[in-house]
Amino acid sequence: MSTIMKRRDWLKSGAILTTGLLLGSKEIKALTIEPGAYLPTGEILSDVVSSKDLKARLMYNENPYGPSQKTKEALIGVAGNGNRYAFDQVRELKRIIAQHEGLGEENILIGAGSSEILTIAGVAYGTSQGTVLSAAPTFMTLLNTLQKVGGKWQQVPLDEHYVHDLDAMKSTITRDTKLVYICNPANPTGTIVDHNKLREFCLEVSKKTTVFIDEAYNEFLPNAKEASMLDLVKKGHDIIVARTFSKVYGLAGLRIGYAFAQPGVIERLSKFITRLSTISSTSVKAAEIAYADQAFVQDCVKQNAAAKEYTYGVLKRLGYDFVPSHTSFFIFPIKMEARSFMDKMRQRGVGIRSWQFENKNWCRVSIGTMEEMKLFGHALEQIS
Ligand SMILES: Cc1ncc(COP(=O)(O)O)c(C=O)c1O
Repeated sequence: MSTIMKRRDWLKSGAILTTGLLLGSKEIKALTIEPGAYLPTGEILSDVVSSKDLKARLMYNENPYGPSQKTKEALIGVAGNGNRYAFDQVRELKRIIAQHEGLGEENILIGAGSSEILTIAGVAYGTSQGTVLSAAPTFMTLLNTLQKVGGKWQQVPLDEHYVHDLDAMKSTITRDTKLVYICNPANPTGTIVDHNKLREFCLEVSKKTTVFIDEAYNEFLPNAKEASMLDLVKKGHDIIVARTFSKVYGLAGLRIGYAFAQPGVIERLSKFITRLSTISSTSVKAAEIAYADQAFVQDCVKQNAAAKEYTYGVLKRLGYDFVPSHTSFFIFPIKMEARSFMDKMRQRGVGIRSWQFENKNWCRVSIGTMEEMKLFGHALEQIS
């Protein structure tokens, strides 16, 4: 069997044919260990793992190398500002990022991680008339919020390569579609859409509705700038581009992210932002220093690629297929029920996430350090 998974290969394997099921919203079920995370079915799993028992924490797509040394040093320096609100510092960070990207300060929103921006987008669009369209499976924060506030979610299955099916998405858009959410590179699959096709899609679709591009993993791409849709925001199109400091910058615990959009959209989203800010002076400082430390970013990208290649090698040796990823994680189909796979790995000190979609069990593993990936490989070998 090829080590590179295509949905067609799997369809041919007969597993789905015997059940006669087709990919659709009802069958997409994620097993998650994220605190308070909602499954698409609305079920909440409460078995939150205590990470202190793990030797390799490979379930949250965190950067195992961050924060950078420069960021850590700068954080000590700002500890004494903890008595002051960080209004000025947030404004300054907005100015720095907006200037760097060639956009205005009226185009940018800062949030406590891009999750905050996804959440408020879920509220803003979920409480207005109409529907939000996305691929399935996809990253769920916006869609979970949308559903919690009574909004309607329309899903289009990924294509046979586990990539966003832009043509199918386009043909699903109606007058009722208020927002189209596209995670690129995608979570949980790690795939990307061709950036030229995505650009064409955005140009056409943004004439009818707002397009939200979640670029949480953009910096891992060798052609990050070209693959980003930020230039379309700059040209005035109705597109939201969200980024985060949680991934390549290594600041997940400091909670800071941002989004660019047209001023009207920024204003609409800003109504739902916490008035005195969810952002601390320490996170702003960390983001400012990390943003300038591109040598660290490039080093992380390199180490991530090497550890990912190593892990692909382990999977090949053990006879597993996998979906090639453009991010700091990847998915592969597993040979046992998702929950028990997760438990067995956890018993060996390795935290991963398991998913069930297309009536199939998958592991999503974040790329840790080389040492962590060796632990992962060892545990996988033991249970295979
Ligand atoms: C695709 C995607 N978007 C957004 C986020 C949110 O990240 P944060 O809130 O830490 O910025 C994540 C985190 O895993 C993600 O995978």
